[in-house]
Amino acid sequence: MKTLKYLAAAGLLAAAAAAVAAEGSPVISEQAGAKNSTVTADVTVQAPAPAVKQKTALSPEEWQRVSAAMPKAEVINGFAVHSKQFCASCHGKEGIADTPNWPDVAGQPYAVTVKALLDYRDGRRKGTPASDLMSAAAAKLTDQQIADVAALYEYLPGRNAKKAAPTTPAPELVNSGDASRYITPCAACHGIDARGNNNGLVPVLHGQQATVLAAALKDYRSGARQSDILGEMRVFSRKLTDAEIEQLANWYAAQPGRVGQEEKKGEGEP
Ligand code: HEC
Ligand code: HEC
Repeated sequence: MKTLKYLAAAGLLAAAAAAVAAEGSPVISEQAGAKNSTVTADVTVQAPAPAVKQKTALSPEEWQRVSAAMPKAEVINGFAVHSKQFCASCHGKEGIADTPNWPDVAGQPYAVTVKALLDYRDGRRKGTPASDLMSAAAAKLTDQQIADVAALYEYLPGRNAKKAAPTTPAPELVNSGDASRYITPCAACHGIDARGNNNGLVPVLHGQQATVLAAALKDYRSGARQSDILGEMRVFSRKLTDAEIEQLANWYAAQPGRVGQEEKKGEGEP
């Protein structure tokens, strides 16, 4: 099916379908356990179960339609959006946040940012303190502003983009997954390096802040975040322990982020 192209392209449709079939559709699970891990101690990104009802994720068909309807983007106009709409005040002048409270936005593929901003603006990503803040910031953005700022973030390099990767071996789940828990290797979708998956709809995890990655995984696990189109992240994260989340978040955060568009020219990358 054409609409599921982005998973099929990575040869993952079967794996994702098997995982969903084995587990049923994602449900909200109680989140037990201590909240005092090193990467998640910051209270501003700790989210309780959602109080506000959010809309369900777009279907693959809806995403195809919505993304095809986006206007043509201009990187140069993205700079104006980024500074005039106060995005820079939280996400940093160059899209690299000054504090671990806010995600880095630089170095993400265009489609990832477009989808995130449409989700916030249109009520599909809200109900936690952090996502409510961001929904308010996105509330008045036009499609044009979203396209332009997304093009800018793809253009800007991610954190540590020019540094060499550390030699720390990846946690087992990254490249091997865990068949006994139906967890597909993270790298199968998120890529083996910061280039990620070239279909462009899977976020780059390399170089993102550990607090942000851990909070995202916990939000999927609790059901507070339901923006994943196929429910795949809710299924995978449901089996992860706090310790695994911390380990994955710390490892990905230590990797070099995605290079910006300027540096990519001549490398033959899409
Ligand atoms: C008050 C601080 C603040 C401002 C201002 C702000 N953001 Fe955010 N942004 C956040 C927080 C917090 C999150 C994470 C929310 C969550 O947990 O879903 C976020 C998430 C995002 C994400 C998704 C990142 C990811 O990895 O999932 C994007 C893209 C983004 N913001 C872009 C913008 C843009 C564009 C603007 C300006 C129009 C903006 N932000 C203004 C705080 C802010
Ligand atoms: C079948 C493909 C697939 C696999 C396997 C997968 N992911 Fe994801 N992941 C996605 C997609 C697609 C999204 C974006 C979902 C959305 O829009 O909310 C995502 C989002 C995320 C995010 C949120 C990023 C952000 O910026 O908002 C984190 C963190 C994450 N994945 C971590 C992992 C980890 C860790 C693993 C391995 C245990 C993993 N993923 C395995 C497809 C996958």
